[in-house]
Amino acid sequence: MTKAQKHEIYQQTAGEIDAILSGETNMILKMATINCILKTNLPYYFWVGFYCVNNNKLIVGPYQGTLGCLHISFERGVCGRAARLQETQIVEDVHADPQHIACDSHTNSEIVVPVFNPDGKLIAVFDVDSTAVASFDEVDQQYLEQIITQHFRAAELTESYI
Ligand code: SME
Repeated sequence: MTKAQKHEIYQQTAGEIDAILSGETNMILKMATINCILKTNLPYYFWVGFYCVNNNKLIVGPYQGTLGCLHISFERGVCGRAARLQETQIVEDVHADPQHIACDSHTNSEIVVPVFNPDGKLIAVFDVDSTAVASFDEVDQQYLEQIITQHFRAAELTESYI
């Protein structure tokens, strides 16, 4: 897929997510809906989901795909690294990343985006995996950070995600 095609799909997808989540404040509802719309529209998404901060570690939250790991400590995984550094991680080849946790051996590349609440506190990480190598680039990063920021950090969140 070309970068131009990615831009087009993400722009349309971001608009769809905005329209459907307009006025919504519940975090689980938002996580489940964002997973569904992104995975439906982006053909290279194999696994998509949120790992939520819980008692100083990450636990699996809403996702779509094959069985995900249930618990990930901040010291482990690309998800743990994104949580620790509070920065988006793009891994072109997960087999070349010693920190990667293989929940499903079909995964070859991934992107993980930190999720903050309106107080700037880390509440989750958003993880997308692909079966192809090097599926994710700065275009994915740009739109995913925009979608996640808009619907969590810059949003009204009146209800707990648990
Ligand atoms: N890729 C993650 C593990 C979670 S799963 O892939 C669903 C990681 O290394 O943090």
